[in-house]
Amino acid sequence: MDTIQDIQEQAFKELEAASDADAVRALSVRYLGRKGIVTQLLRSVSTRPPDERASFGKRANALKNRLNEAFETALKRLEVSLEGREDHVDVTLPGRTPPVGALHPITQVMDEICDIFSKMGFDVVEGPEVESDYYNFEALNIPKDHPARDMQDTFYVSDAVVLRTHTSPVQIRTMEHKEPPVRVIVPGKVFRCDSDITHTPMFHQVEGLLVDDGVSFGDLKGTLTAFVHQIFDEKTALRFRPSFFPFTEPSAEVDIVCVMCRGKGCRVCSHTGWLEILGSGMVHPALFEKVGYDPDRYTGFAFGMGVERIAMLKYGIDDIRKFFENNARFLMQF
Ligand code: DAH
Repeated sequence: MDTIQDIQEQAFKELEAASDADAVRALSVRYLGRKGIVTQLLRSVSTRPPDERASFGKRANALKNRLNEAFETALKRLEVSLEGREDHVDVTLPGRTPPVGALHPITQVMDEICDIFSKMGFDVVEGPEVESDYYNFEALNIPKDHPARDMQDTFYVSDAVVLRTHTSPVQIRTMEHKEPPVRVIVPGKVFRCDSDITHTPMFHQVEGLLVDDGVSFGDLKGTLTAFVHQIFDEKTALRFRPSFFPFTEPSAEVDIVCVMCRGKGCRVCSHTGWLEILGSGMVHPALFEKVGYDPDRYTGFAFGMGVERIAMLKYGIDDIRKFFENNARFLMQF
């Protein structure tokens, strides 16, 4: 019996049966480890008859090298194929759900505002964000020296072109193209050189305009009251406070009872119990003259509101900048 030959055959048979890397490592210890079969074989060389020692030692060494190489090759093959194997997937891991997009809260609130007015019969129209001085100011009865044109507030593209500071220019653009009755709502971006916790250089407004025979301030009050009761809730009290805008006469700002303290007075409403939500008024006859409507025949009302402001009050958000930081954890709450 040739011991070396037997050991080799046995080792290769076991290696063939080894199905994973751990089994191969165990074999390597069994044969080549400190007390391994081949290691002991090599130690026994000195116990051999002197004339056999040299050839026995040489063959035992060759076996050691051959096995070493075979184990290493097998290990490499098993480790590589393990990665590529389909059953290497850990089926117990929870699945990965791809993030699903959603409408931005400002888009949602803007859509909601437009929906409410659509149901009342208003058409949704849009206008350009880069606007001429004429539409943004002049045609809206805002003369050259009006403070609304202050360089501090307006982004000027050139002397006669601005980034629109409000959606009101679309009132003029609409009336220029259509005879009364006019009933439109105008959602869109506006721009002002302003930035703090309640102002961002870009924000959104929704403008409204209704012109027809016999439109009264009562229609304005009824329409805006119906709106406030839908966008907030039926119980939200509102008041019309006299104000001034160059493009309306008379003008009124609409306040709602503070959503935080319900009128008791708190930090959010500066202890007045009221929060301003929009500007409004009866369309100034000067605008009708600019677009060729007969100011003796037609009357109308207009209003404009900031979408971020309404969203902040609706959801109790204290910093407008949160809407524009693209923090998905904030945005996904709505
Ligand atoms: N354009 C005004 C602003 O940006 C808001 C406004 C006030 C719009 C009164 C109107 C209005 O249509 O009648 O501050």
